[in-house]
Amino acid sequence: MNTSAEVGMEVMGLNDPETAIKDMQPFMELMMYYECALMEIETKLKVLNSEFNIQHNRNPFESIKSRVKKPMSIIEKMRKKGLEITTDNIMDNLTDIAGVRVICSFPEDIYTVSELLTKQDDITVVNVKDYIRNPKPNGYRSLHLIVEIPIFLSNGKKYMKVEVQFRTIAMDFWASLDHKLKYKKDNLKHPEIIAQELKKCADMSVAMDYKMQEIRNMLE
Ligand code: GTP
Ligand code: MG
Repeated sequence: MNTSAEVGMEVMGLNDPETAIKDMQPFMELMMYYECALMEIETKLKVLNSEFNIQHNRNPFESIKSRVKKPMSIIEKMRKKGLEITTDNIMDNLTDIAGVRVICSFPEDIYTVSELLTKQDDITVVNVKDYIRNPKPNGYRSLHLIVEIPIFLSNGKKYMKVEVQFRTIAMDFWASLDHKLKYKKDNLKHPEIIAQELKKCADMSVAMDYKMQEIRNMLE
C-alpha cells in the first residue's frame, strides 16, 4: 500500500473506493489541521527571526524544517499502541503528527528561541524533554517540546499538538548519522563499535558547540 488514497482507505478500514472517498474525509481534514498548526508555528518562528535580525543584527536560528507524519507511520504507531484508528484517538494519543525542527547555531539560542515561542499567550506547553541538559546515553542531544496551538477554522478554533525539536547544527549533523545507524544496525557486524565511535563524536561536538559559543560571545 503506497498511494495516499490507498493508505487512507486502510486507515478507515475500507475496501470500496466509492464510499472510501467520502469516509476518508475526516482523516484528510485532520491532516489539514496539522498542516495549519505547522504554518502557525512556522510563522511565529519567522516573526521572531525577523525581529531578532533587526534588533540584534543576527538570526537566532539557521533553518526550520517541518513535516506531517506519513499516514503509514501513523497507522504503525497506532497499531503499536494497540489503539483503534479513529481521528479522535489519533488526536488524543499521538503528539508527533506535526513536527517542526529548528536548527540553531549555538546552544544558548535554543533556549532563547524556545522561551520566546512558549511564552506567547496562545501557546500551551504540553511536555518538555531536554536532551541537551540530559543527553540520551547514545549521545543524542536536542530540546523537544510538545506544544498546543489554536488554529482558526470557519466553524471555530481547534487546538492542535505540534512537536518542536530544537538543535544546533552540530547536534543535527550528529543525529542524521545516528539515524543511519538505527536503520542499518541489523546488517552490521559490530554495531556496538560504531555506536561507541558515534558517542565519542557526540562528546566532541558538545565541546565544539560550547567552545564556539564562547568565541561568539567574546566577539559580541
Ligand atoms: P518516538 O516514538 O520516536 O516519537 O519517541 P518518544 O515518543 O519517546 O519521543 P522522543 O521525544 O524521545 O523522540 C522523538 C523524536 O526525537 C524521534 O522521533 C526522533 O526524531 C528524535 N530522536 C529521539 N531520540 C533520538 C536518537 O537517539 N537519535 C536520533 N537520531 N533521533 C532521536
Ligand atoms: Mg516521533
